[in-house]
Amino acid sequence: MTGNTAVRADTVFRALGLTKTYQMGDVQVPALRGVDLELYRGEFAVLLGPSGSGKSTLLNILGGLDVPTSGQVFYEDQELTSYSDSALTRFRRQYVGFVFQFYNLIPSLTARENVGLITEIARNPLDPREALRIVGLSAREDHFPAQLSGGEQQRVAIARAIAKRPSVLLCDEPTGALDVQTGAMVLEAIRTVNIELGTTTAVITHNAVIAGMADRVISLSDGRVARIEHNAHKLLPSELQW
Ligand SMILES: Nc1ncnc2c1ncn2[C@@H]1O[C@H](COP(=O)(O)OP(=O)(O)O)[C@@H](O)[C@H]1O
Ligand SMILES: [Mg+2]
Repeated sequence: MTGNTAVRADTVFRALGLTKTYQMGDVQVPALRGVDLELYRGEFAVLLGPSGSGKSTLLNILGGLDVPTSGQVFYEDQELTSYSDSALTRFRRQYVGFVFQFYNLIPSLTARENVGLITEIARNPLDPREALRIVGLSAREDHFPAQLSGGEQQRVAIARAIAKRPSVLLCDEPTGALDVQTGAMVLEAIRTVNIELGTTTAVITHNAVIAGMADRVISLSDGRVARIEHNAHKLLPSELQW
């Protein structure tokens, strides 16, 4: 890696001076205005910030779904910002699990089959049953998405994301469409993945309450990192005061 400050040995992602400007016709929309950020191996990070602060843009760039306008991103000792499109796609397939607000399950496949689709193309996948166990859905393996609640569907989506044993799990507003109680169960599933598989985890949210369960809270404001806080005591999802 480059840069003259010491880099922690457990650094998984390192972003340096990231900017992203979207061109909307004649108008330039700045989404990131110079972000320096690290994610550490095995940590549970929450990226907190209001709508429009650049959270999704940042996560998409870290995960190789998008590229910055300027700046560098390193994953381990690889510079993602030097990759071709196809190299970036390979990186994403092998190392990154994504969870989004909407679950995008295939309606005609059961929970186990939805997870199994991924395990057919991964190198060293989890058994779909094991992935569903981790998210607490062993009893729902044979159910179709329409037979599952929103929170259960999101947990299937988490099982699908972890089935390839990604190095990092990136979640963009995973509870955004859910009520408090089912949201807490989804967060519990993500927490279990983080603990049982040791997956480096970043959860985006605009809900400050969720920050209580993180190791580190990275607050974004207007395309910049405004603040980074460490929680001395992490709360369980069931202990969060909504
Ligand atoms: N594809 C896009 N085209 C144009 N502007 C975009 C696009 N995606 C995001 N933006 C703009 O970039 C800024 C940051 O957006 P985003 O990263 O989605 O923030 P957040 O996830 O925190 O809500 C916003 O002003 C948003 O309107
Ligand atoms: Mg967003």
